[in-house]
Amino acid sequence: MIIITGINGGIGNYLFNSFYKSGEDIIGTYHLNKPEGEQYKNCIQLDITDNNQVESFSKSISAEEKITLINCAGISYNSFAHKSNVNEWANVINVNLTGTYNLIRAVLPLMREQNYGRIINLSSIVAQTGVLGTSAYAASKAGLNGMIKSIALENAQKSITINNINLGYFKVGMINTVPKEIQEKIKSKIAFNEFGDPQNIFNTIQYIRDTAYLTGSCIDLNGGIV
Ligand SMILES: NC(=O)c1ccc[n+]([C@@H]2O[C@H](COP(=O)([O-])OP(=O)(O)OC[C@H]3O[C@@H](n4cnc5c(N)ncnc54)[C@H](OP(=O)(O)O)[C@@H]3O)[C@@H](O)[C@H]2O)c1
Repeated sequence: MIIITGINGGIGNYLFNSFYKSGEDIIGTYHLNKPEGEQYKNCIQLDITDNNQVESFSKSISAEEKITLINCAGISYNSFAHKSNVNEWANVINVNLTGTYNLIRAVLPLMREQNYGRIINLSSIVAQTGVLGTSAYAASKAGLNGMIKSIALENAQKSITINNINLGYFKVGMINTVPKEIQEKIKSKIAFNEFGDPQNIFNTIQYIRDTAYLTGSCIDLNGGIV
């Protein structure tokens, strides 16, 4: 079974539909608005920052099936640090890092019972490179990169793996909030001169699911950006 958060977002929606079409048993969670369509009928509303909601959600999951958790929910906030709003800054950490942790913490006991689990987080190249105005976002994604190292150690003996995909820039989702002239500048730094097709993220997730010895790792998926 696949659990995927943020199915209203560009990448989450792409992945949800790809797994749905491939016939996988999948539970999607959305935040504010339920997407329209038959495939979303069993999807669940979930604010990942609300740990009570996350815990009730995890109790509704059958412990019989092998679980892959894909954490796609995330937000960004663009501001130079010295001008930033403290609450907005903290909210990015709350969603991207603490919210992701909430899901992982709630689902791990089920995985440990099953002696199997795959946890995959969508992190970002920004955590390694730094980009103007993204101190909150970079800190939240760098936090994920540290967090998985401990969780990998804690759960390897139960055949549970946890990995991040450090994404570059993709054709769907958050990129649409970036002004066109900045998009062109970013493209000029990518070896392929274009943003990534989200099918590459799907393929990487399948690789991680199939590779039992891969844990505590961050896979760079960025089209050769410099
Ligand atoms: N697109 C890229 O090129 C790129 C690059 C690097 C990393 N990433 C990462 O990949 C992931 C998906 O990105 P995306 O581009 O698909 O972003 P997106 O289109 O902005 O979607 C993000 C999703 O997160 C949900 N969300 C926000 N706050 C939430 C909360 N408190 N609880 C539950 N869900 C919440 C949003 O739902 P609502 O709209 O309903 O709030 C939205 O569906 C993110 O973690 C992002 O940081 C993306």
